[in-house]
Amino acid sequence: MKLTQEEQEMLDGKHGRSTRKAMEILAALGVIYGAERMVPVTSVQVAGVSYDNLGEAGLHFLVDMAEGGGQARVLTTLNPAGMDIENWQALGIDAAFAERQTQVIEAFARMGVVTTCTCTPYLAGNTPKPGEHIAWAESSAVCYANSVLGARTNREGGPSALAAALTGRTPEYGYHLDENRAPGLTFEVLGRLEQTLEFGALGKAIGKQLEATEKKPVAYIRGISQASLENMKSFCASLATYGGAALFHIEGVTPEAGQFAPPAVSCCITQADLDEAIQSMNDASSEEVDFVSLGCPHLSLNEIAHIANLLEGQQVVKEFWITTARPTKVLADQLGYTRVIEASGAKFATDTCCVVAPIQGRFKALATDSAKACYYAFAKNKFKTMFKPFDEVVLEALGGRKR
Ligand code: F3S
Repeated sequence: MKLTQEEQEMLDGKHGRSTRKAMEILAALGVIYGAERMVPVTSVQVAGVSYDNLGEAGLHFLVDMAEGGGQARVLTTLNPAGMDIENWQALGIDAAFAERQTQVIEAFARMGVVTTCTCTPYLAGNTPKPGEHIAWAESSAVCYANSVLGARTNREGGPSALAAALTGRTPEYGYHLDENRAPGLTFEVLGRLEQTLEFGALGKAIGKQLEATEKKPVAYIRGISQASLENMKSFCASLATYGGAALFHIEGVTPEAGQFAPPAVSCCITQADLDEAIQSMNDASSEEVDFVSLGCPHLSLNEIAHIANLLEGQQVVKEFWITTARPTKVLADQLGYTRVIEASGAKFATDTCCVVAPIQGRFKALATDSAKACYYAFAKNKFKTMFKPFDEVVLEALGGRKR
């Protein structure tokens, strides 16, 4: 790879031990993927934050990078941690885990990382502009950044994203290059898309078809006239989970779609495909559901307002986690939504989520409106799942009682 003088100095250790290690990681990736040079990044999102996933080895790596003088050179935020940093006791997290998780967060803070722990950094001040080169980990956010925001990122891992933060660079390959952003397969959507749940089902239906292809082309999607921010974050999470996709284009909706003609090879997504996807994520009965969670990806303020409206004056009868970013929670506090929600017995699980928190064995079945949460509820925690529209998930927490 051709490095600039500053990049070469980083690699030679002139900017400290951690910066050298970071540049070594990036240079090695660049060679593997055939990058010709590094590209400066404006924003980083680091994943691998929950101690439940990191373990001792991951914690030691982060502490070592902090002790080696690593400092973030660009705006860098974090993925969800394994607990609510301020309110972990209320979620049943044990003290030993909390101590280790706190050390993880402190190591990031020492490196100048903004310790906002969320998978929707674009709702919490880390919002890149179209065309900006960034280095994000967290598959749902990567898909959102590339497709909905029009920024450019590969699907980074935790160490490569941290390396990008400490150097302000990433190797230029993959989705940083124009030629890899062109669509290769058209999907005609014929089914009904009204609720966020249906966008999650669409992500699974398209994702399954992409997974079956050899080259995993970028999808060009037609037949969607409009989609809210909440619809898009749900769709991105699902498509990334079930199809490994990091970029798609929706005709008339996403910013780069107009640059391309629809690819000639096309598939249809029918109502039967959506119904089948929904059905495939429903194997738990109401009697079995003992855990309810909304906020995968993390909830927007609009969604929290809607939950407060649904819960006002009522009491939940099941463990109900509302997962969101700390800055969103602060706004919910100020607007009175938190008071209403907590009076119902529901719990904010800020900074964390129902997938990365250490809850294996605590519950049997999860009710959610998130296709991604359904996948990991089973894959990571062996929970059964109930996949229902947003309002029905809230109703499930209330024991099925209408007001
Ligand atoms: Fe976010 Fe956790 Fe879902 S990180 S996308 S809420 S699995």
